[in-house]
Order: sequence, then structure tokens, then C-alpha cells
Amino acid sequence: MADRPIVAVANVKGGTGKTTTAAALADGMRRMGARVLAVDCDPQGDLSRIQGDYIAEGTCTTTDLIKGADVVPTAEGQATVPTTDELEYVDSEPDPRTGQPLSYYALAEGVRRAMDAHGFDACVIDTHPEKNFPTTSALIAATHVLIPSEAEAFGVQGVVAMESYLDAIAEDLDKEWEGVGVVITKYRRTTTMHRRVADSVAAQFGAQGVRVFDQRISRTIQIPEAQAEGRSVYDESYLHGAAAQYMWLTQSVVAWAMGGEDGEGGE
Ligand SMILES: Nc1ncnc2c1ncn2[C@@H]1O[C@H](COP(=O)(O)OP(=O)(O)O)[C@@H](O)[C@H]1O
Ligand SMILES: [Mg+2]
Repeated sequence: MADRPIVAVANVKGGTGKTTTAAALADGMRRMGARVLAVDCDPQGDLSRIQGDYIAEGTCTTTDLIKGADVVPTAEGQATVPTTDELEYVDSEPDPRTGQPLSYYALAEGVRRAMDAHGFDACVIDTHPEKNFPTTSALIAATHVLIPSEAEAFGVQGVVAMESYLDAIAEDLDKEWEGVGVVITKYRRTTTMHRRVADSVAAQFGAQGVRVFDQRISRTIQIPEAQAEGRSVYDESYLHGAAAQYMWLTQSVVAWAMGGEDGEGGE
């Protein structure tokens, strides 16, 4: 059981709602009263753009966090660590502290250092679809992995590909996660194919011990609109539509990650 969960939101497929889900999870936990460290581990910087309110002046970037720098929280005790495109090449330089190559554990150490120093209750890490150094580092740092997937055939293939990536990390780097979960995004309940694929995802991956969350996130224009205006999904529409779905998902993820549930979605 993780008393301070570190949730990496990941999928080797792009555009499945990783950044949207990472931001909604971080903001949802903040609304529940938690101090949350969000980390943008995608060099494209989408999370950094939509989490501007939580980026305190003088805070480090993800590249610097990996190299030993410290996070500066906001006055409310929240933080988002922004990224720059240099993150993509962070491992081309040695660790400035030791002169040795940077390890996959450097981000995990940075996250734990920041959580200890500033009393964060949870960490949410957004990732890039590529299986590169930053993504592997994020998965190594995580206690839990949440995979957003669309309810389409290619979506299911993304979850399968993600599972083999996790298996390779587990084997090569001797890593274990406390939980791996899937959330269905961009869901249309009135589309028969979406319902059928989502139900089969729950059956197929649930049987493998993956937690498939009951709360599916509907496809709605509210989400890109909120993001375009720099608002959180919760800002105006709290408890309506996508906001209510993401809040419910956040509560389920917190219960799962805090260890209140065990082996659900299996058997
Ligand atoms: N539930 C949803 N309904 C409609 N559009 C969505 C939804 N979730 C995400 N989007 C949009 O889909 C695009 C990709 O989402 P994003 O979270 O950036 O995915 P990823 O980080 O996996 O690439 C964005 O334009 C986002 O606004
Ligand atoms: Mg993204």
C-alpha cells in the first residue's frame, strides 16, 4: 500500500487522453484537499501549458529535477514541474553530481526528495508515448500506472503494447508496481462499438489483474474547450459532465492507490 502514491499516466499510443487525465487527476486530488506534485515528463509540454497556475516562480524543470534541482511549491503548497524540449535529450549528458551517466532512478529520487521536502501527499506524472528515457524514468518512479485508452480496436492494441513495455521494465530493471489500471476515455455510450470494446477491455485486462475503472470518460467538447481557455475541467462545470466523471475517477484512483482495494477487476 502506498501512503503517498505516485501515479504515472502512460500509454505508448498518442492522443488517448494522457495529459487530460493527468491534469484532471492532479486537480481532482487538489480539490479533495491533497497537496499534489504534478510532473510533466513529456517534452511536448502540454501538461505544463494547462497547469500554469501550479508552476511557482523559480521552480525547476523536469530536466533539472532529474539532475538534482528542487521544486518550489506555490503559496498553497501545490506544484507542477514544467518541462522543456531538452528533456528528450536529458540522458545525453552525465549526472552533474557524479559525472556518471544519468540513471532511470534519477527522476524517482527527485520526486521522493521533493515529496519529503514539501509534504506532498501524492504525485501525478504525465508521459510521452515514446518508450524513451523520460518515459521509462517516470514508470520507474511510479507506484501505480494508469493507462488511458479509447474504446476502439487500436486502443486495445495500445494497452497490450503498454503491458509488454511494463513487462520489459519489470524484467530488465526489476521493477514492480502496486497497481496497473486502465481508464476508458473519449467514450460514447450510445456507440455500440464503444460499449462492446469497453466491456471486452474490462473482461480481458481485468482477468489479468489490471484494474479497469468503471468510470468511463465521455467524449465531450467541454474538455478541449476548457484546455483552450487555460481552465481546469473542474472550473465552471464542476459536477457536470466530464468534470463529474473525472472527479469520480479521481476518487476511485485515490481509493485504489491508497491501498483500500486489492485485486479488484480480477477473478
Ligand atoms: N474526453 C474527451 N473528449 C473530447 N476530447 C478529448 C477528451 N480527452 C481528451 N480530449 C482531446 O483529445 C486530444 C488529446 O488528448 P490528450 O490528453 O492531449 O492526449 P495525450 O496526452 O494522450 O496525447 C486533446 O486535444 C484533448 O483536448
Ligand atoms: Mg500528452
